[in-house]
Amino acid sequence: MVKMPSEIKDIVAKQKPLPIATADKSGKPNVVFVTMWKIVDDETLLIVDNFFNKTRKNLEVNPNMAVVVYDSDAKKSYQLKGTVDIENKGDKYTSAKEMADSKKLPGKAAVVFHIKEIYDATYGPNAGKKLA
Ligand SMILES: Cc1cc2nc3c(=O)[nH]c(=O)nc-3n(C[C@H](O)[C@H](O)[C@H](O)COP(=O)(O)O)c2cc1C
Repeated sequence: MVKMPSEIKDIVAKQKPLPIATADKSGKPNVVFVTMWKIVDDETLLIVDNFFNKTRKNLEVNPNMAVVVYDSDAKKSYQLKGTVDIENKGDKYTSAKEMADSKKLPGKAAVVFHIKEIYDATYGPNAGKKLA
């Protein structure tokens, strides 16, 4: 796993909604927005599965996930890539369930995203460069 530097973490924290991309076993991509999520620590995001359909099916056969973020003030964009664990018990599930309960949503599972790569996605000469 890799740690988000504070500059990137601050930009990630501001994303609402956050787009998350998954793929099925054949590689067919899928992207959805999520608003019920939080930063657990420098290398982990917690996303609440309330309504996932293809997203959940994809993650059950292919744990890879990618996220892209953009800060229009700083004019910076980053991609985070990693893998997820789907949790139905334990601290992170309890936290996901609390977030869901507060909005009267189902809170079916905690999708724990472990960040393994970070890329610069800002337009310009460093576009696509691996940062971590
Ligand atoms: C603004 C917005 C925020 C959303 N937030 C969540 C969320 O936090 N959790 C969730 O399970 N679904 C959320 N959804 C629903 C998903 O985006 C999507 O509709 C759902 O996963 C079904 O798509 P899929 O079949 O590609 O998984 C949100 C949708 C929108 C438009």
